[in-house]
Amino acid sequence: MVFPYKIGFIGVGNLAQAMIKTLLEKKVVAPNSIFASNRSPGKLQKAVDTWGIQAQTTNEQVVDASDIVILAVKPQDVSLAVDPIARAFRDKQLVISLAAGISLRTLGKKLPECRIVRAIPNIPSVIQKGVIGCVASVKDTALEAVVADIFSPMGMVIPVSDEDELEALMVSCSSGTGFVYELMMYFQDWIAEHGFEEHLARKMVVETFLGAALLASQSPDQSLEDLQNRVASKKGVTAAGLDSMREWEIERALRYAFEKAALRNQELAKQSE
Ligand SMILES: NC(=O)c1ccc[n+]([C@@H]2O[C@H](COP(=O)([O-])OP(=O)(O)OC[C@H]3O[C@@H](n4cnc5c(N)ncnc54)[C@H](OP(=O)(O)O)[C@@H]3O)[C@@H](O)[C@H]2O)c1
Repeated sequence: MVFPYKIGFIGVGNLAQAMIKTLLEKKVVAPNSIFASNRSPGKLQKAVDTWGIQAQTTNEQVVDASDIVILAVKPQDVSLAVDPIARAFRDKQLVISLAAGISLRTLGKKLPECRIVRAIPNIPSVIQKGVIGCVASVKDTALEAVVADIFSPMGMVIPVSDEDELEALMVSCSSGTGFVYELMMYFQDWIAEHGFEEHLARKMVVETFLGAALLASQSPDQSLEDLQNRVASKKGVTAAGLDSMREWEIERALRYAFEKAALRNQELAKQSE
């Protein structure tokens, strides 16, 4: 095991479970170094049965038992989970919040003595293909290394310099995954309308997106535009389609989607102050 710290999870929902599974599979920590609590006991028991982690009856016990506390509850549950036990946190204890829309400022007011990191993984993190943005309340390279140890088994960790950047990363990579699925559904519908079985249409879309992404990933020296030009010869079939995409201003529609998502994030952050 490479990691010398005890990690505590307050909340063992979808994301915490994916993290626990990955941390154990990659042998970053041993099950006896993971402590967890959860509002409903069933989920916690299942995590204990599956991974042999250490269940705690209260959130306060998780804080006591752990060097690093990961807040893995929904944004609307953060206050309920943290406020009643704020005094249990130790001076300089590292707290990592996964909650979207809860700012460092808000968390810092709740836990003024702690070092706080916000981390935003996207959903492909569950298959170790995530993009994970993180920002810390204090600039500290040792702290960054600890955060990288925890999250790099789930994908690419990107430390950002402030919460504006974190928001941009969240909107493009986390919400962005949802936007990509929306585009994939448009492809799938069109293919299915042209006579292909639904399951085959789905496969064709997935392979097209996967192939495009893998080719881009394996051609780091080529810009996305260069790769596109390899498909789109002048006055050819693809170029005709691209002309139409540009005429209909798909880029503008997507930019609006990013901006709307960012505005919603700011609204949620305000509500939680
Ligand atoms: N899933 C993602 O892809 C993703 C990506 C980026 C960020 N996030 C963030 O990660 C956090 C967790 O998301 P999730 O999808 O894992 O949510 P989730 O599946 O709903 O898990 C949240 C867990 O927290 C538990 N909980 C709620 N209040 C609690 C309390 N006071 N004390 C202890 N446990 C409590 C819930 O218990 P119950 O069993 O009673 O419901 C639930 O098991 C959220 O803040 C979300 O914004 C998620």
